[in-house]
Amino acid sequence: MIIERNFSLLQHHTFHIPATADYFIEYESVEELKEVLSLPIVKGNKFLQIGGGSNLLFTQDYHGAILHSAIRSIGVVSETAEEVIIKVGAGIVWDDLVAYSVKMGWGGLENLSNIPGEVGASAIQNIGAYGREAKDTIEQVECIDVESLCMRVFDNAECMYGYRSSIFKKEMKGRFIVTAVFFRLQKKPILHLEYGNLSTVLSSLKEPSLQDVRDAVIKIRSEKLPDPDLVGNAGSFFMNPIIPVGQYEKIKADYPDIPSYPAGPGQIKVPAAWLIDRCGWKGKAEGGAAVYEKQCLVLINQDHAKAQDVLSLAEKITISVKNRFGITIHPEVNFID
Ligand code: EPU
Repeated sequence: MIIERNFSLLQHHTFHIPATADYFIEYESVEELKEVLSLPIVKGNKFLQIGGGSNLLFTQDYHGAILHSAIRSIGVVSETAEEVIIKVGAGIVWDDLVAYSVKMGWGGLENLSNIPGEVGASAIQNIGAYGREAKDTIEQVECIDVESLCMRVFDNAECMYGYRSSIFKKEMKGRFIVTAVFFRLQKKPILHLEYGNLSTVLSSLKEPSLQDVRDAVIKIRSEKLPDPDLVGNAGSFFMNPIIPVGQYEKIKADYPDIPSYPAGPGQIKVPAAWLIDRCGWKGKAEGGAAVYEKQCLVLINQDHAKAQDVLSLAEKITISVKNRFGITIHPEVNFID
């Protein structure tokens, strides 16, 4: 176990805006996590479990303990001729898992290539891209109850997954720490290429492999999303709003090119990027923060941004989208104070 005091969080969140934590604690096993949760600097005090920090904005220095998992075991739990169930430690880097599964020829995660973050957070956030979400392959989520220190395993249905949402972000927020995730992967993969331009990018290949899909997703993502190692950002800053069909039809009458995705009976999901773009925000800056030129959904740390610059830019964008389209957009990024 590692315990650091007055610790710089710069390398632990992808916005790369300076912030420190009173304590930073990294644990390597479930047993160590239980010890951590019993420490006086954690028990009864302010603490926060983080993953890769790819969905966080520290609005100020964190006066508490930041916990980070270094549980990085991975193993096969069971397998048949058709599928394999693997148990993956929460501290494994998400894209390392995707690369590993593709190398093994196990299908299910390839569309989620190149997403920053770690495995534990993937099960909380239900990360998604190119028509697939983490929930499509998650079998079970193993957690520790932060109060009782007992282990609890949630099956997929109990996680109550929705778009970028789960029970761990709602009713059970802060009550559990994910220690491992079980994924059900396919040995005879069925590819999902219907979303966006994925099939176009792969159109020259007769029978694309998992590796081809992974390469195509990485290519598409790197063309429109900034590399957080080079330009601080937290991916999509806002969630795509889900609105009633009636409201969508009214907007479409004025803006016939508005894109949409199905979102269940009577509802439609519209891209926040498109709404923000139409409000004229592309490339606009506020202090050191800016709207990314190639993708309006992404706010970037352009030039030594302060958290306040990002917050103020986000607020102005939210107001202008509301005023123009009557739609309230909500951040996907978690604000931490
Ligand atoms: N668009 C604009 N202006 C822009 C960017 C996009 O008008 O500056 C339009 C595009 O033409 C397109 C639509 O907006 O019609 C949607 O754009 P895009 O496909 O780039 O983004 P998205 O579908 O809304 C979601 C996820 C991404 C994920 C992609 C691919 C959310 C909030 N975001 O974006 O996830 O990679 O789909 O599946 O759901 C993330 O969560 O960090 C993330 C990057």
